[in-house]
Amino acid sequence: MLAYLNGQYLPRSAATISVEDRGFIFGDGVYEVWRVVNGTLFETERHLERLAFGLTELRIAAPDILRADALTAVAKRLLIESGFLGGEATVYLEVTRGVAPRTHQFPSKPTHPTVYATVNRFVPPEDLRLRGAACITIPDIRWQRCDIKTIQLLPNVLAKQAAVERGALDAIMIRDGVATEGSHANVFAVVDGVLRTHPTDHRILPGITRAVVLELARDAGIPTLEEPLTEAELASADELFLAGTTTDVMPIVRLNDAEIGSGQPGPITTRLVREFRVCLDVACGVVSTTTT
Ligand code: PDD
Repeated sequence: MLAYLNGQYLPRSAATISVEDRGFIFGDGVYEVWRVVNGTLFETERHLERLAFGLTELRIAAPDILRADALTAVAKRLLIESGFLGGEATVYLEVTRGVAPRTHQFPSKPTHPTVYATVNRFVPPEDLRLRGAACITIPDIRWQRCDIKTIQLLPNVLAKQAAVERGALDAIMIRDGVATEGSHANVFAVVDGVLRTHPTDHRILPGITRAVVLELARDAGIPTLEEPLTEAELASADELFLAGTTTDVMPIVRLNDAEIGSGQPGPITTRLVREFRVCLDVACGVVSTTTT
């Protein structure tokens, strides 16, 4: 398994960073994850824009890899040398402020951002998607800038672990009585025929999959509303699903051990699962628009 670290390609096991890296010490960095089909990155630009936003918010100098051509070149080499050019994969990219003696404020001398990228095989969760998954709810204990895709993910880690310990796929986080998002995916519900999801503000990550799903729904004539869902609306929704790069569009049929809707993936969710697959395959050149 190959990694890219600060301009070098090397086995992942040999890719090491300094103990003084501010990513290691403070979680002072941001990351992105792309879905890849047959060697083509999905929504390259939107992910890069979100990364650039995070870097600007954290005042970390943008590395060269923020150009689409640079990222594509690095990803291609990692995919080729890892044997992932065919089929599905993900690209992980992380940028930290770099190495400096530990002080909470920014280092007095400019640092070189640490840039790390790697690729992983991705297997879409087809079986689970057909059955639908279970979620729990959990208090959202995160900070007030969830719109930045920072590598500080401890509340998300604890939320996901709590879900796993209860035999669920994920935890839906609740803040001030409303559902914000999952540990690593956005949340959608169908309430009275309307597709609802939390608006993009400081309380959620503006997911790329979320944006694409909303576009697909609008194209399909499904009414959409970006308004917070109360915990009660979540529990009584007709349909529920998660959407994220590594979660795909995943129907949720049980919440805290109670059935959602009929207990089966609902019609709007099922339609969006299909539309998203087609969108991914067309965008990544697997099928042409004329064959869909
Ligand atoms: N997580 N919300 C959170 C908190 C996330 O971490 C993610 C993605 C999403 C969905 O965003 P997108 O559709 O752009 O992937 C929503 C990545 C995949 C991860 O941590 O692995």
